[in-house]
Amino acid sequence: MLIELKSLYRTYQSRDRINNVEALKNVNLSVAKGEYLAITGASGSGKSTLMNILGLLDTADSGSYYFDGTDITELSDREISHIRNKSIGFVFQSFNLIPSLTTLENVALPLEYRGVSRVERMEKAKESLDMVGLSSRLFHKPSELSGGQQQRVAIARAIAGEPPVILADEPCGNLDSKSGNEIMGMLKTLNQSGRTVILITHDSKAAMQADRMVRVEDGTVY
Ligand SMILES: Nc1ncnc2c1ncn2[C@@H]1O[C@H](COP(=O)(O)OP(=O)(O)OP(=O)(O)O)[C@@H](O)[C@H]1O
Ligand SMILES: [Mg+2]
Repeated sequence: MLIELKSLYRTYQSRDRINNVEALKNVNLSVAKGEYLAITGASGSGKSTLMNILGLLDTADSGSYYFDGTDITELSDREISHIRNKSIGFVFQSFNLIPSLTTLENVALPLEYRGVSRVERMEKAKESLDMVGLSSRLFHKPSELSGGQQQRVAIARAIAGEPPVILADEPCGNLDSKSGNEIMGMLKTLNQSGRTVILITHDSKAAMQADRMVRVEDGTVY
């Protein structure tokens, strides 16, 4: 298994403790290498919390997380960041592009964190943007792009470092249906080229293109 979560718990602590939110409770989830998994569930059920933990952006309070055979709970923050930068590409509902940077710079940025040389960064970024059909928008700023184009930039950014895993949290949530379908097509293609894709969506039709679907209900995965 590429990903194995066992008896995972995550509580958001509030100062008074009365308003603590048990966002994840006894989560057990395995994802195989190369699998396309859809995670569905109502608003507030814990999907994004789960995604943040899967994506090594947050850590659980208890339980175990094995990523590619490595026990994440044993690692330092630095080691965790290293695995995250190398292994996981993110696509978010709100695109999360940096407004002051061009398309090309946005895509090249995560490669800089990975120590890739400038020349190679530009090459890889151009290649990824070509894959999502945006070669003609390299020097535009995010505000000069449509929503669908911005999400394609985000996909190019996610794949530029060739991570084995793509995590997408409601990637079509802010898009019209045509742009949404394009993005879904790209995720499918990425999976077919061997990447593990985890898609969070409350759109059951979108979830249908995955190999498998799990449901988060009140913090537990079924
Ligand atoms: N930073 C936080 N501090 C306190 N509570 C939080 C925090 N983030 C999320 N929560 C709570 O944890 C629960 C799960 O939230 P989460 O964002 O994971 O839901 P979600 O399934 O992604 O919802 P949506 O579909 O609306 O995005 C919710 O009840 C939410 O209010
Ligand atoms: Mg969410």
